[in-house]
Amino acid sequence: MQYRRPRRNRKSASVRELVEETSLSTKDLIFPLFLIDGQKKKIEVDSMPGIYRFSIDQMLLEIESCLKLGIQAFDVFPAYPESLKDPFAKESHNPETFYLQGLRAIKKEFPEICLMSDVAMDPYSSDGHDGIVQNGKILNDETLEILAKMSLAQADAGVDILGPSDMMDGRVGYIREELDSHGFTDVSIMSYTAKYASAFYGPFRDALDSAPKFGDKKTYQMNPANSQEALIEADLDMEEGADFLMVKPALSYLDIIKLLQDNFPLPIAAYNVSGEYSMIKASAEKGWIDGERAMLEVLTSIKRAGAKIILTYFAKEFASLK
Ligand code: PBG
Repeated sequence: MQYRRPRRNRKSASVRELVEETSLSTKDLIFPLFLIDGQKKKIEVDSMPGIYRFSIDQMLLEIESCLKLGIQAFDVFPAYPESLKDPFAKESHNPETFYLQGLRAIKKEFPEICLMSDVAMDPYSSDGHDGIVQNGKILNDETLEILAKMSLAQADAGVDILGPSDMMDGRVGYIREELDSHGFTDVSIMSYTAKYASAFYGPFRDALDSAPKFGDKKTYQMNPANSQEALIEADLDMEEGADFLMVKPALSYLDIIKLLQDNFPLPIAAYNVSGEYSMIKASAEKGWIDGERAMLEVLTSIKRAGAKIILTYFAKEFASLK
């Protein structure tokens, strides 16, 4: 006699909803946005259908339409022309630079939103790396000074959360101290704790024209084959004062999300990166998969794995459903 029949809990939508363990909310999402200099510009990223690079006037309109859909958190990345890049990413802490002015304008217009920024050299670096390059090597401690200057400039522009995405050792503590000693004790840090050297960043680097000019990022981003190192990185970030721990990319690293969620009391975030977005968009465009269902399945899996917060290019599409 078979008395245990799991299918009974799947027999109707109403029963399935009662037993559903994971639910997604627009409130869990952070929407990444790409900022460019100028006015009246809204240019679609070729490899990311539905995602644009905005000049600040257009970005303010975009944020307004997102707020109406319930999206309350945004992560803004700048795309700089080659002419403003140099080996030391000097433009990153020029108070007049369009990125910092843009952040200021956003916070002024929408003080209630949660505004996150990106801390790393690559958008401003003529080498396309996240740290200072010397004789083909990425210097760690010298890079920290630049990251700290960038962080102070972004904090001064009014951001709520800084997102160091560079993977230099010791940067969370270095930035935390610098923020605190300048009175920015309220500015949070969402550390890119376990950021892997991934092929899935390709479309993002197109959006920002930020691909490395030589080599790869394997001396600072993590090896996709490893999980133990994620525990070391998380220990350090926790000790150094991070407010959130992030895993990136998300999909090939669901086990890492779970590992950090099981071992650390901080809120875990996951970055559903550009390539993960583009794969779904491309196959949906070809009619090979149902894009909406794939999106929901992917976002649910990231949350089920233990991410409280998801950075995703699908934020607007998700929020527009129903
Ligand atoms: C770089 C940075 C990258 C992303 C966010 N910050 C790319 C990289 O490390 O080369 C990728 C985001 C995405 O692919 O969506 N500081």
